[in-house]
Amino acid sequence: MRGSNAHTYGRCTHDTEVVVPVAALIDILTPALKERYGVPAINIVNVETMEAVLDAAVTERSPVIVQTSVKTVRHIGSSVLFSSWAAMTAGIEVPVCLHLDHCPSREVISECLRAGWNSVLFDASEMPVAENLAQTMEVVSEARRFGAHVEGEIESITGVEDGVGSDTPSERQSLDICLDFIARSGVDVFAPSIGNAHGQYAAQPDLDYERVQDIVDRTGVPVALHGGTGLAEEQFRDLIARGCAKVNISTALKRAWMMSSLDALREAEARDRWEPLDLISTSSASVRQMAVDHMCMFGSSGRAA
Ligand code: 13P
Repeated sequence: MRGSNAHTYGRCTHDTEVVVPVAALIDILTPALKERYGVPAINIVNVETMEAVLDAAVTERSPVIVQTSVKTVRHIGSSVLFSSWAAMTAGIEVPVCLHLDHCPSREVISECLRAGWNSVLFDASEMPVAENLAQTMEVVSEARRFGAHVEGEIESITGVEDGVGSDTPSERQSLDICLDFIARSGVDVFAPSIGNAHGQYAAQPDLDYERVQDIVDRTGVPVALHGGTGLAEEQFRDLIARGCAKVNISTALKRAWMMSSLDALREAEARDRWEPLDLISTSSASVRQMAVDHMCMFGSSGRAA
C-alpha cells in the first residue's frame, strides 16, 4: 500500500482511497512546543504493544507518536505493520502518528515513506556533518513528496537502540554547527546529544539543559529527547519546559512487556495453566499503564480533549 499524507490535521489519504485519521508529526509537535508539554514517542515491538500504546492515548485523551525501529520494521515487515496501524487508527479520536526511529538506511526510509509512515529519523550521525547535511536534505525533499516529516541528528546518542548506535559517546558538534544544520536541512525536529543515552542509565546523567534551550530559542524547532527511560521527573519537566516536545521511550516498554510476561509465565507454571491470551492481556495491560504514566508525567494527558 502506497501512502501519501495530506495535511488537514492528520487526514492521510492513500491510493486505495482508505482514509486514515492520523496526524502529521508537526501538527502534534507544534501545540506541544507552544504549550510546553511533551508528547511520548514510544517504540512498539509488535501489534499488541502498538494497540496498548494507542489505547493509552485514547484513554488519556493524549496525542502520541508511535515509533518503530528498523529492526521492528524488518522483523514484522512494513506492509503488515502499516496495515495493522491503519486498522487500529481508523476512526481514532486523538492525534497519533507513525514514526520511523533511528534509520541509517535510505532504502528503509523510502520503503516506510511509501508505505505511509508519517515521519522518519534519518540517522546519519556516523557521517561527517557535510555528508549528513547533503543526504538529510534529500530525505527532507523525499519526505515532503509524501507530506511526511523528518527528524535530524548530527551526533550519535550514546547507547545501542535495537542494533543502531554505539556505547561510546560521540563527539558533540558546536551550537553553530547544529543551528546551521537545522536551518539548511529543513528538518522538522532535531535530536541533539545532551548527555542522554539509550537503555538503562547506570547513574543519573548530567544533562545539558542549556543546549536544548539554545537550539529551541534560536530555531523555533522542537527538540526530540532521546533516552527517556530512567530520567527523573524533574529532568523531564525541565527539558520539556525548554522545548523537548517529543520524548522518546523504548526501554521502559521492553521492560514492561517482558517483565510482566515473566510474571504471567511464572504464574502459569505454578498453576499449570497455559493460556497464551492471558499472557498477552497481562503484558498489554502493563505496557498500557507504562504509557499512561508517561502521558501524565509529560503533561500530554487531556491535550486531545
Ligand atoms: P530509551 O530506550 O532509553 O527509552 O530511549 C528511547 C529512544 O531514545 C529511542 O530512540
